[in-house]
Amino acid sequence: MANRVRAKISALGTYVPPRLLTNADLEKMVDTSSDWIISRTGIRQRHIVDKGVAASHLAVEAAKKALAERGISATEIEAIFVGTVTPDMMFPSTACLVQDRLGAKGAWGFDISAACSGFVYALQTGVKFVESGAHKKVLVIGSDVMSSVIDYTDRATCVIFGDGAGAVVIEPATDDNYCIDYLHEVDGSGGCSLYMPGGGSLNPSSHETVDKKMHYVHQDGGAVFKYAVRNMAEVSEKLLARNGFKPSDVNLLVPHQANRRIITATAERLGLKDEQVIINIDEFGNTTAGTIPLALDSARQQGKLKKGDLVLLASVGAGFTTGAALLRWAC
Ligand SMILES: CC(C)(COP(=O)(O)OP(=O)(O)OC[C@H]1O[C@@H](n2cnc3c(N)ncnc32)[C@H](O)[C@@H]1OP(=O)(O)O)[C@@H](O)C(=O)NCCC(=O)NCCS
Repeated sequence: MANRVRAKISALGTYVPPRLLTNADLEKMVDTSSDWIISRTGIRQRHIVDKGVAASHLAVEAAKKALAERGISATEIEAIFVGTVTPDMMFPSTACLVQDRLGAKGAWGFDISAACSGFVYALQTGVKFVESGAHKKVLVIGSDVMSSVIDYTDRATCVIFGDGAGAVVIEPATDDNYCIDYLHEVDGSGGCSLYMPGGGSLNPSSHETVDKKMHYVHQDGGAVFKYAVRNMAEVSEKLLARNGFKPSDVNLLVPHQANRRIITATAERLGLKDEQVIINIDEFGNTTAGTIPLALDSARQQGKLKKGDLVLLASVGAGFTTGAALLRWAC
C-alpha cells in the first residue's frame, strides 16, 4: 500500500518501586517455601509499593524516563493510553491522572482494562491512532499495583504478583522498523477463572464484600496455566504465519511474565531456542500490564535487543484476553 503510515516504538522507560518482597519474606507470611515458589513459578522476588503509591505514580515515573530517552517534553504528547486493572480509583482514569502529573497539556486519553494483556492492547491502540494519521506522538503505558488487590494470606496468589510499570512513545516510522501486525483474541467464558468480584457495580464495596474478601484476586491457577500455555503459542504462530515468518525468524520473544513454566512451554511449542526468549520473572514476578515493557527493558540492558530485530510480544490475561504483536525494534 503506497504511502501507508506505519508506527514505531521510539522510546522505552520502566519503573518499579524500590521496596522488595522476597521469597524469604513470604515464607514468614504464609505456609510456603522459596524452593516451592522458584520451582513452580521461577520467581525469587518482586517489588511492591509503599502505602500511598498507586498505578499512576509508577506510570508517571516510567513515562518520564521514556520522554527523556526520546528527548521530548510531555507537552508534545497528543494521547495517553494506560493498560491497567489496578487504577488509582474507579474514576477518573489513570490516564487523566498521568496527563495532569506529567503536564501533558495537549493530550487526551483513557485506560484499557485487559489485565495481563493490558500493555499489548494499549500498544495496539496507540499504533492505530498513529497509523491513521490522527496523532504523531502517543504515550502507551502498562502499570499495575497488584499488591493492592492481593490477599497476603492466600499462598496460591500472593507469591505470584508484583508491582511495576513501563511506557513507550509511539510515532510514525521513518524506515522499515515499525509495528508490523497484531492478533488479539478474547474468550470471555474464562472470566470465572481469574477475577476480582468486589468493588464494581455488581458487588459494590461494603462491609460484607470486604469480610468475604471479594476485593482480592480470585484465581483458578490450573485453568489459567493451561489456557496460557495453549493460547500464547497458538496466537503467536498464527500471527507469524500470516506475515510470512517462521518462529526461527524471531530474534526475541517477549512474553508476558506470568510463570516461568508457562514461558518455557510456550517457547517449546514454538520451537524457540533459549536465546530467543527473554525471562525476567525471577526479578519482578507478574506485574500484569507492566511485564512486557519491563522484559523489553531487561532485554535491552542484556544486549539482547537491537534496532531492526524481529520482536514478538505475547500475552494472556484475565478475561481471558490473549494478545500478540509483531514488530521490528526501532530504538
Ligand atoms: C498458581 C500456580 C503457580 C500453582 O502451581 P501448580 O503447580 O499448578 O500448583 P497447584 O495449584 O496444582 O498446587 C499444588 C499444591 O501446591 C500447593 N500450593 C499452592 N501455592 C503454594 C505456595 N505458594 N507454596 C506452597 N504450596 C503451594 C497447593 O495448595 C497444592 O497443594 P495440595 O496438592 O496439597 O492441594 C500455577 O497454577 C500458575 O502459575 N498458574 C497461572 C497463574 C497465573 O499466571 N496467573 C496470572 C494470569 S496472567
